[in-house]
Amino acid sequence: MLNFAATPPLSLYIHIPWCVRKCPYCDFNSHEAPEGIPEDAYITALVADLEQDLPAAWGRTIETVFIGGGTPSLFSPEGIDRLLGDVRARVPLKPDAEITLEANPGTVDQARFRGFRDAGINRLSIGVQSFQPDLLQNIGRIHNDREAVIAVEAAHHAGFDNLNLDLMFGLPGQSTEQALMDLRTATALEPAHISWYELTIEPNTCFHRHPPERPADDTLWEMQQAGRTLLDAAGFERYEVSAYAQNSRQCQHNLNYWQFGDYLGIGAGAHAKISDAATQSITRISKAKHPRTYLDAAHSTQRISTTSRLSVDDVLLEFAMNVLRLDQGFSPATFTAATGLPYAAIEPIVNKVTADGLLSVKDGTIKATPRGQRYLNELLQSWMPETTHNA
Ligand SMILES: C[S@@+](CC[C@H](N)C(=O)[O-])C[C@H]1O[C@@H](n2cnc3c(N)ncnc32)[C@H](O)[C@@H]1O
Ligand code: SF4
Repeated sequence: MLNFAATPPLSLYIHIPWCVRKCPYCDFNSHEAPEGIPEDAYITALVADLEQDLPAAWGRTIETVFIGGGTPSLFSPEGIDRLLGDVRARVPLKPDAEITLEANPGTVDQARFRGFRDAGINRLSIGVQSFQPDLLQNIGRIHNDREAVIAVEAAHHAGFDNLNLDLMFGLPGQSTEQALMDLRTATALEPAHISWYELTIEPNTCFHRHPPERPADDTLWEMQQAGRTLLDAAGFERYEVSAYAQNSRQCQHNLNYWQFGDYLGIGAGAHAKISDAATQSITRISKAKHPRTYLDAAHSTQRISTTSRLSVDDVLLEFAMNVLRLDQGFSPATFTAATGLPYAAIEPIVNKVTADGLLSVKDGTIKATPRGQRYLNELLQSWMPETTHNA
């Protein structure tokens, strides 16, 4: 039985489901943009969706906003301005709330970046992926390396000092030296944050149907270790499996996910997680996935695709899946604040997994050991209570 003293911090995720072209590795809910994206109608739908979600946010303040996709930079600065104005008119935003927008280098210029800034965006996340022209081609990107650099410089000139670059490693045909060159180019551009993801082959993608040849596992491990050392030397501290920040400029929005905080999710296929102190429950909600279905359903309950109330076992597993990605781990007090459960609910599991060498407990902080981080799935399996194993 959950027993919240107070609900955890609340964020808002807004999904924009269109891209210029679908990348062959991508399983996000993104669709090739039709001639003339229905931007106005979609923003109206987002606001209607938010209005119906408001009971979940009553009495609460939104700490961060993340406009993700898809490619939100396909929307006009005027559209983003209207969207954020309509959000502010309906829910209280923390005065210095982090407000991020994802941008693709093939879709932006300095004037557009300035417009996003004037609209209230204070953090940009640019999808660079690599600075090697041939590798960018191998992964079907719409931009080349030069355009990626120009986009980052334009973002700086437009006044964005809180800038993230997304990069991937383990790309088809990539050597360790090429992966490191990408990181050197990225750090020289002085972003506040770098997300450095290992390419994964996801079901329902082009790469799943036609798998490209990727670096061997040993090379991937070598890349990861060398990249981590390089980023560390350049002043980028790792705080999550794939996230590195300079001067403690971690992504507050993603931190809230990883700390098992709450979030509203509006837009096609958006997910939400809401804790309710009145019913002592945590509910996950997802919205209609296809943009057309969402546009048609946004003004009614039909916009909701799935709702599920988490069992105690779900809460334990989902908490671990998120928080053990963080280098800082968690404490008994943060566990109770995020889950509404007493620490006693996991103490025997923590002791068992610690004895297995996958967790460490020191000075009241519980975190994955380097081996636990490397074999996170194994850790999560041993995390589940015996009853769930046998179910
Ligand atoms: C939702 S995408 C949005 C960024 C923007 N649409 C772009 O691609 O420029 C967020 C990031 O997820 C990463 N990503 C997407 N698919 C991935 C995959 N299969 N493996 C690893 N990282 C992936 C990419 O680095 C991408 O920039
Ligand atoms: S641009 Fe980004 S969201 Fe769109 S398909 Fe490519 S990786 Fe996915």
